[in-house]
Amino acid sequence: MVAGNWKMNKTLQEGTALAAELKNNVKNPTCEVVIGTPFIHLATVAEMLKGTPVHVAAENCADKESGAFTGEVSAAMVRSTGAEYCIIGHSERRQYYHETNDILREKVRLALANGLKPIFCIGEVKEEREAGRQNDVVRKQLEESVFCFTAEEFAQITLAYEPVWAIGTGLTATPAQAQEMHAYIRSLVNANYNAAVADNTTILYGGSCNEKNAAELFANPDVDGGLIGGASLVADKFMAIINAR
Ligand code: PGA
Repeated sequence: MVAGNWKMNKTLQEGTALAAELKNNVKNPTCEVVIGTPFIHLATVAEMLKGTPVHVAAENCADKESGAFTGEVSAAMVRSTGAEYCIIGHSERRQYYHETNDILREKVRLALANGLKPIFCIGEVKEEREAGRQNDVVRKQLEESVFCFTAEEFAQITLAYEPVWAIGTGLTATPAQAQEMHAYIRSLVNANYNAAVADNTTILYGGSCNEKNAAELFANPDVDGGLIGGASLVADKFMAIINAR
């Protein structure tokens, strides 16, 4: 899978223009292609891309089902736009909006209950990597937010390893660092479920992945694709990354 994460970029007009470019140019991708757009774009973009190989994701959803939560958008609302995926647990949500592993487990639960496929993000910050704690951090994120689900439910979840120090910084993890962590993540899935579930789990790399380094990252056996921020905002760059998979 190659998934874009537009974050808080693009007006509705700019977003639909980018979606139109992808619609016209992404014809027979050899991987699943997803774009994560702001909530207000979802209905329009999902309608535009219906029946094309480009699937649509929200970048977040609420941790509550419905009700008096002003400004929130529920998983059911996201699904009703035609979006199929939902990015959950992005490090920016964890850092700036204080989303804990417990909150994120609720979001994943509600996404699954409403027929959305979560793209669940995990990853350590710079200090944790420098202290050699990256494996512990990632293990806890998985244990507390997604390993409670049944194998059937877990099969709907895509994981995205995004070392926080690599996001938007131009400091990409080396292919060896990515492979090492992805293999570790797969071993945890194996231990918590079984080898078949582990083999079938899609584990994306994210963090300054671009059209220049994507092929090298994707060449690793446990790197199944990428979650792309900055480079997903430019159609040519995003398409070059899709073609690198
Ligand atoms: P980046 O963002 O590609 O701009 O580093 C990745 C992400 O945050 O998903």
